[in-house]
Amino acid sequence: MNIHNIIHGEAVETLRTFEAQSIDLVVTDPPYLVNYRDRDGRRVRNDDSAEAVLGVFPELYRVMKPDNFLVLFCGWAAIAQFSQAWAEAGFQVGGHLVWGKDYMSNAKHVQYRHESAWLLTKGRPEKNGNALPDLLAWTYSGNRHHPTEKAVEVVSPLVRAFSKPGETVLDPFLGSGTTAVAAALIGRKAIGIELEAKYCALARSRVAGAERFHATRTTQRQAA
Ligand SMILES: C[S@@+](CC[C@H](N)C(=O)[O-])C[C@H]1O[C@@H](n2cnc3c(N)ncnc32)[C@H](O)[C@@H]1O
Repeated sequence: MNIHNIIHGEAVETLRTFEAQSIDLVVTDPPYLVNYRDRDGRRVRNDDSAEAVLGVFPELYRVMKPDNFLVLFCGWAAIAQFSQAWAEAGFQVGGHLVWGKDYMSNAKHVQYRHESAWLLTKGRPEKNGNALPDLLAWTYSGNRHHPTEKAVEVVSPLVRAFSKPGETVLDPFLGSGTTAVAAALIGRKAIGIELEAKYCALARSRVAGAERFHATRTTQRQAA
């Protein structure tokens, strides 16, 4: 049975069809609003359109269950716009995560050697007795599937720390499917939304592989 759902669609429009308070955790890596272009000329849809990205926060707030987390990857360049949008929707800041890179991804006034994400809360989640450090080591994905692909090794600890087995994890800007893969690998239900059909197809195939891996591992553990 396929318990995961990868939806080809626009984030806000699609979220409007979801029931209120149906999602346990959101982990997402939206366009950073920097008009990104990689060395091969690949771009990210809507990376130049605040309107197409920031409208997602009120819908995320509505679909999330109370007292839960939204992990938002976000660079520094458009942080004023992002923080205004999440605060107006009702989210509060519960932490800031930083990954140090052992390479430089770019340089201008300084060398770019870190990635960051904001831990946002809806309501007041319970304190975690085994809290994740907010300084973590980066793993480079290789950007094989997507120009701004995150490594599963980076996303998995977030899904594990901020959700429980069987819970539903949403990524409304799914790209090549990394959040859904991370969720499927550790027994969470994944829902992803992505505008580009080619990334949806890729995400579905990656998630099917992760689901098979999880099922095999579960069977082996039960047999041992
Ligand atoms: C930064 S990328 C996510 C990459 C992903 N973390 C991965 O590992 O592959 C953001 C994605 O959001 C998608 N996107 C942009 N605007 C969107 C919208 N309004 N609704 C749904 N998807 C959107 C883009 O096509 C892009 O694939």
